[in-house]
Order: sequence, then C-alpha cells, then structure tokens
Amino acid sequence: MKTFVCKRCGYIAFGEPPQNCPICNAPKQDFELDPNAIKKPADPKNLSELEKKHIPLIEIKRQCGLVGSGCLDANIKIGEIIHPMEAKHYIMYIDLYLDYNFICRYHLTPEKLNPALGIHLKVGAGKLLALENCNLHGRWMAEKEI
Ligand SMILES: [Fe+2]
Repeated sequence: MKTFVCKRCGYIAFGEPPQNCPICNAPKQDFELDPNAIKKPADPKNLSELEKKHIPLIEIKRQCGLVGSGCLDANIKIGEIIHPMEAKHYIMYIDLYLDYNFICRYHLTPEKLNPALGIHLKVGAGKLLALENCNLHGRWMAEKEI
C-alpha cells in the first residue's frame, strides 16, 4: 500500500493523501509519496537488537476493567526490548489506525513516560496498526487483527 507523509507533522496516510491532515490540518498538497516512510526489518524472522527496540508490540485484551462491556483494550509497547526514553533518544509519538484509518496520536515526553500506551476501542473487529516515530531511527509499525 502507498504511504504518503505529511511534510508538516509526519503523519502517514495509507493509500491516498487526505484532503486535510487529521493531525495538523495541512492540505493535500503538503503530502508527499514516500515508499520508504516506514522502516522494515531486514529479516522479520530474525530481528536485530535495533529492530526489537523499535517495532511495536500490540496486545489485545477482550475484557476491559475501566469502561466495561463492549470495550476492547489494546496495549502497545515499543518494543520487544523496551526503547530508551532519554532527551537525546526517545519515541516522539505513536499513531494508531484501524483498517488503515487514523484513530489517534499519542505524544510522548522522554522525562516522564515509558514508551507504551493503552487504548479503549468501541469496535470489536478490524486490523489495528501501531506506528511509532523514534527521533533517531525513524518510523516503525506493527499490525494485529483484533
Ligand atoms: Fe531509537
């Protein structure tokens, strides 16, 4: 699938650029086709340490203890080896999509946060996609059928 990058805020649109960026409202012409916008592991079956630190892990929980019935929880962690959160090297944000449609962006500050988040979904089916952006090592993603 084609990936378009918003030149203002780094948001990735899948398939086609939107009329306006859902994060910063930039117009369609500010999107650039970039097939290399998201990094891919060299060998998915044999990840390097750097890849293990950057590829998100998605965990689905069917029972929500906060919202209650009908809510599906997803926890996202960066990554299998937890990524550093230091002023010079940290995860800047995590963007989430359902079936390649944007859901939300979670901004992280390195001083107080671990590179992880939990979300509460109203939907019970689809493909959840997590895309993180490391200030030094770029964007990495993972997807999971829910
Ligand atoms: Fe990194």
